[in-house]
Amino acid sequence: MSHTHPTLYDQLPQNRAFINGQWVEPCKKRAFSVYNPATAEPFMSVADCGAEDALLAIESASGALREWRAKTGKERSILLRQWFNLIMENQQSLAQLLTLEQGKPLAEALGEVAYGASFIEWFSEEAKRVDGELLASPKSGQKIMVSRQPVGVCLAVTPWNFPVAMITRKVAPALAAGCTVIVKPAEETPLSALALAQLSKQAGIPGGVLNIVTTTRPNAIVAVMQKHPAVRKISFTGSTETGKHLMRQASENLQRISLELGGNAPFIVLADADLDAAVAGAMASKFRNSGQTCVCTNRFLVHKAVYQEFSTKLVAAVKKLKMGDGLAAETTQGPLINEAAVNKVEEHIVDAITQGAKLLCGGQRRDEASTFFQPTVLGQVSRNMLINQEETFGPVAALIPFNSEDEAIDIANDTPYGLAAYVYTKDLAAAMRMSDQLESGMVAINDGILSNEVSPFGGIKQSGLGREGSKYGIEEYLDLKYTLISGL
Ligand code: SIN
Repeated sequence: MSHTHPTLYDQLPQNRAFINGQWVEPCKKRAFSVYNPATAEPFMSVADCGAEDALLAIESASGALREWRAKTGKERSILLRQWFNLIMENQQSLAQLLTLEQGKPLAEALGEVAYGASFIEWFSEEAKRVDGELLASPKSGQKIMVSRQPVGVCLAVTPWNFPVAMITRKVAPALAAGCTVIVKPAEETPLSALALAQLSKQAGIPGGVLNIVTTTRPNAIVAVMQKHPAVRKISFTGSTETGKHLMRQASENLQRISLELGGNAPFIVLADADLDAAVAGAMASKFRNSGQTCVCTNRFLVHKAVYQEFSTKLVAAVKKLKMGDGLAAETTQGPLINEAAVNKVEEHIVDAITQGAKLLCGGQRRDEASTFFQPTVLGQVSRNMLINQEETFGPVAALIPFNSEDEAIDIANDTPYGLAAYVYTKDLAAAMRMSDQLESGMVAINDGILSNEVSPFGGIKQSGLGREGSKYGIEEYLDLKYTLISGL
């Protein structure tokens, strides 16, 4: 590796899972390569765990549970805070590692590490506030005590698009609540998970509280963990199709489940919107991570009165984006994660153009067989096109003109998904009407980025169940217990 070789990368042992606080060789001694999506070259080998390793991880997480949940919230808080501090001290090298395995520009990777760490900081504070209540009984001589208890061993199945933040957004509330966790990171991006584990150990988080099982056979390994009676909860971020499958599997043991799934976010520009602000928001919302986030705008609904001006300004901004290796300073657009991702983008563009959409810029791979795809704008998109109906998960902005607020709401809600929505307007009453009527878990008015640790992140309809981050996120890892005290 070059001078950009990150320190944490040097420290990570090859071909080892992180189980019970130790770097463990998988039982069958299998391994797989991690590829840099910018060069398509392998640069590190990691453990390819099997069912035996999954069982070891469950044993480890179950073994650590009693002591971890017995700690006070304050004790857990101190350890989480130490982990947060170490992540921020290593922000640069974690970000480099993230860019190497995921491809996003280094500036975005640095942002993701800080965003990911913010969940640990937030939940280190919430750990101290897991309170109960004393209720008035309908009978005399009684007290009714309501307490919150950790769910137990949790499984976190995390995606490749945010290899740090999607882990911390699940693990931090779980640990704060007194649960222990097994993480199964995406096979494309296992290194950030291992680096986080390394730092958790350095922070003093006891062995077994956090375990990382890397594998190329996620279905089989997750099934083993979901079927085990000790695993009381699964939290998943990824596709709606996989989410449904995991939910069916969870029903066998009535395992608790949180799902953060696909979206089809509308971005609505009303006639009175500040168009420069709307274009800035559009760029942030659409082209972050090359369009590979589940809250990325999928459809721009633009009032006919401002459609032409918005479209011209957006195309000008998109033409300034720079594709390249995420480690190069000028890069704003990294590669897509793999060939399948590029194929889907191409399919949506061809479908739209065949049905009458206009290609306003981009539209092609950087070069043949490349996973770099030109940032693209399509005009005159209509409701029947695939790009309006399915999540593209790539750098394509699709512009749909509309005539009235009602029509915009109708198009926006005509989808099985309901994760994020964006509205640009200067009219507060219109903003509130839109927010009320949009069928989505999250609405941003006059902003293209709505993710932070303080707000409840999550969707409705087929975009998921449960909320992450915020003061609500910890509830996903807590059970309510009612204790009746009689004879008083
Ligand atoms: C995601 O794409 O799943 C998460 C995006 C975010 O947290 O902003």
